[in-house]
Amino acid sequence: MSSFRVHSQGPFTAPLSGAVEVGGAKNSALKLMAATLLAPGRSTIRNVPDILDVTVMGQLLERLGCQVRITPESSADSAATKPRLTVIVEVPAQLGHEAPYELVRRLRASISVLGPLVARCHRASVALPGGDAIGSRGLNMHMSGLEEMGAKCHVEHGQVIAKVDHELRGARLGLDFPSVGATENLLMAAVLAKGTTSIDNAAREPEIADLCSMLTKMGAQIEGATTSTLLIEGVDSLQPVEHTTVTDRIVAGTWAFAAALAGGSVRVVNGIAEHLDLPLDKLQRAGGEIDTDPDGFTVSFTNRPRAIEISTLPYPGFPTDLQPFAMALASVSEGMGMITENVFESRFMFAQELARLGADVRVDGHHASIHGGLALSGAPVEAHDIRAGAALVLAGLAAVGTTTVSHSHHIDRGYPAFAEHLRALGADVERS
Ligand code: UD1
Repeated sequence: MSSFRVHSQGPFTAPLSGAVEVGGAKNSALKLMAATLLAPGRSTIRNVPDILDVTVMGQLLERLGCQVRITPESSADSAATKPRLTVIVEVPAQLGHEAPYELVRRLRASISVLGPLVARCHRASVALPGGDAIGSRGLNMHMSGLEEMGAKCHVEHGQVIAKVDHELRGARLGLDFPSVGATENLLMAAVLAKGTTSIDNAAREPEIADLCSMLTKMGAQIEGATTSTLLIEGVDSLQPVEHTTVTDRIVAGTWAFAAALAGGSVRVVNGIAEHLDLPLDKLQRAGGEIDTDPDGFTVSFTNRPRAIEISTLPYPGFPTDLQPFAMALASVSEGMGMITENVFESRFMFAQELARLGADVRVDGHHASIHGGLALSGAPVEAHDIRAGAALVLAGLAAVGTTTVSHSHHIDRGYPAFAEHLRALGADVERS
């Protein structure tokens, strides 16, 4: 089992310094790969992160009958950091419609083949997905939306089975909660449905806007991308496309929190500050300085941060994926930090691991209060999911001694070359 080993003398003893370049968003690239299924022919997705989930999604598309080629992009990246990928998908006229358990269980995003398969094949059998241990992650909105559009959906033997008897038709859909995955699946079904679909209370994450932009290039008729009401006029067919993935705002935000936890100054090249309005505002309130430039932004902390209050919410609220970093930061900040988690009920499992480093976190339902200003000390800890794992590595930068984060394969799923990037910023981090 591989791990990250982080050595530190405590917060602000070895401030970070330098620049880190952020590539395409995992949570966009995987959905863009699924969206290629909507048009027969060769589609090309660029700026795809070099992570295992991309390989697994490629294997899933192959199982559905596509040919997939994943190649490194030539780039000016230093040899220490992994290049980005180009993914070329040849989509056949006749697709398979079964997404098997052995692949789907390995990543949550595989559920996003459901909408395209229903749209193209009028039937789909997709195993219930796996992914991170952060909460129950229901699929009721995905299924009820497809049913409103004329599909019959049920779960049988661990598979979501969807079948359209007559035609997939546009419908007025309203989501109980702006679910990212449900919005994506219903959008991808609606672009090839007959007539008009509206999705009210749709998610507005930048990754949805990226998907809308790719679908529009493929010939889809979509209004309201970036708003909470999507209006889609179905078309008979779509064309293959070339598309470049939007920058990963969660990875960019992670580097912003790294500067806050370790101290110092980190320039986040390609970071899109407007996708991180609230997190950057919170970091400023914590005492950081944020400077934006045409190619990204820089976050600098010269003094120990002040405690902040955060409440996770769908975009443009504070992202749940950055919540563990905020908790780690609160544990070394001056004062009492408060966090409310409104999206995934099990995300506070992270608090137990943080406590091993000496953090004082009290959890009450979906609220956590963090008594800050304590001296953290290095210890063996375990990564339970991508973000919690990365947050433990960053907490290690502020803990005296050695922190060993095991189960680091979780971190690799979201952060290509994380250790190399940290070392380039001056952190004492190694893989073992
Ligand atoms: C995506 C991201 C994840 C991010 C999350 C919220 C991917 C692969 N993952 O996950 O990193 O943290 O958005 O920004 O893109 N829900 C239901 N029923 C449904 C659908 C969702 O109850 O039919 C609930 C979920 O259990 C969860 C909440 O809604 O509590 C949010 O889920 P959703 O927005 O769908 O997140 P994902 O698409 O799974």
